[in-house]
Amino acid sequence: MLEQTFSCSIPAAECRIVVGRDIQGIMVSAIEKSKTGLIVAGAGLIDSWENFFQEIEKSLPNVKVARVNDGEGLKTFDSYIDLIKVMRTCRLDRGSSIAYFGGGTVGDLTGFCASTYMRGIGLIAFPTTLLAMVDSSIGGKNGIDLSDGKNAVGTFYNPNIVVADTVFLEKGIEYQKQGIAEIVKYGFIHDYSIINSLQSFSDYRALTKSPLLPDIVFKCAQIKMNIVSNDPEERSGGRELLNFGHTVGHAIEMASGYMIPHGTAVMRGMQIESQIASEMLGMKDVVSELAGDLAERFNIKQISIEHGMKQNLLDAIKYDKKVRSGKITVQVVDRPGSCRNVVVGVDKYLEALNKWLKEN
Ligand SMILES: NC(=O)c1ccc[n+]([C@@H]2O[C@H](COP(=O)([O-])OP(=O)(O)OC[C@H]3O[C@@H](n4cnc5c(N)ncnc54)[C@H](O)[C@@H]3O)[C@@H](O)[C@H]2O)c1
Repeated sequence: MLEQTFSCSIPAAECRIVVGRDIQGIMVSAIEKSKTGLIVAGAGLIDSWENFFQEIEKSLPNVKVARVNDGEGLKTFDSYIDLIKVMRTCRLDRGSSIAYFGGGTVGDLTGFCASTYMRGIGLIAFPTTLLAMVDSSIGGKNGIDLSDGKNAVGTFYNPNIVVADTVFLEKGIEYQKQGIAEIVKYGFIHDYSIINSLQSFSDYRALTKSPLLPDIVFKCAQIKMNIVSNDPEERSGGRELLNFGHTVGHAIEMASGYMIPHGTAVMRGMQIESQIASEMLGMKDVVSELAGDLAERFNIKQISIEHGMKQNLLDAIKYDKKVRSGKITVQVVDRPGSCRNVVVGVDKYLEALNKWLKEN
């Protein structure tokens, strides 16, 4: 067992992050120390981890495990009310904590419940997808969806501890590998050594078996935590660097009616954003070739933007909630590992995107 830990103080929160492999002992001890009364476990884990949850319930009789059907359909008001009722039945009080095992959907729902139940109780995160380990469990955002808006209701509320055990990443490989796009993003915006490390693997399976994986996850979590701790509630703009690849990536997801998965869309989004920036600002595109190589290596489909999607893509950017007073902040990678925000007129950006769409 090998693990790395760091702590980060952000206003009104202390969050400890532990990353390692085969560190279930640390998880159990976090559950005990935090007076956790309820664990929320995503159903996707049940087949492989049910014995582990049963052991916890047997050895810690004050802890109950609630199994929930994970996936985007979990992030609803109905699930919120159901989970709050279970918290009540388990008699959680202001001194208790709630923990979750799962991906971003289980984390977003549990975090929202933790932040609102009795005006806030302890929250412990055990992320089990690659995306949750490097992204959604860090930074305090949570929430549920409305029929016309993803993550439309939520709060900022940090877990007291995040324990990421990379052993969870060996199952559900087809889905898990989508999280690679976020890792590639951290490499481009902050630390080129991450991209170098990824280039030493032949595919996702090789990555999951490598002792380097906890290191890579740890670096990504640290980068995100450092960025968000300067802008904990997304007010000063400091978090915007994390949007690299996501403005066009989200637009691709929306334009495809969410048929294109998040990681695939973000991987393509990073390439398109970089090509547009190079055209608009007269600089070298240092992203596309490397991102293409990594997409191929990890078998993430390199999509083309179908003719029928093009207008939807332009509309998605035009009405993006990040557009303010006719301006949009785009992320520009000057060299792999170094990125800056540039504010441009949204009309100018749409013109450049339109030109790109006509040529590709
Ligand atoms: N709060 C934030 O800052 C933030 C950031 C990014 C994304 N998100 C949210 O995260 C959600 C996506 O999260 P996700 O990608 O983790 O998806 P998810 O939670 O839907 O999980 C994806 C699938 O993986 C399965 N799964 C989970 N752990 C597994 C494991 N160890 N082995 C096998 N299968 C496993 C689940 O059953 C599910 O079918 C979205 O709702 C998104 O809005 C939140």
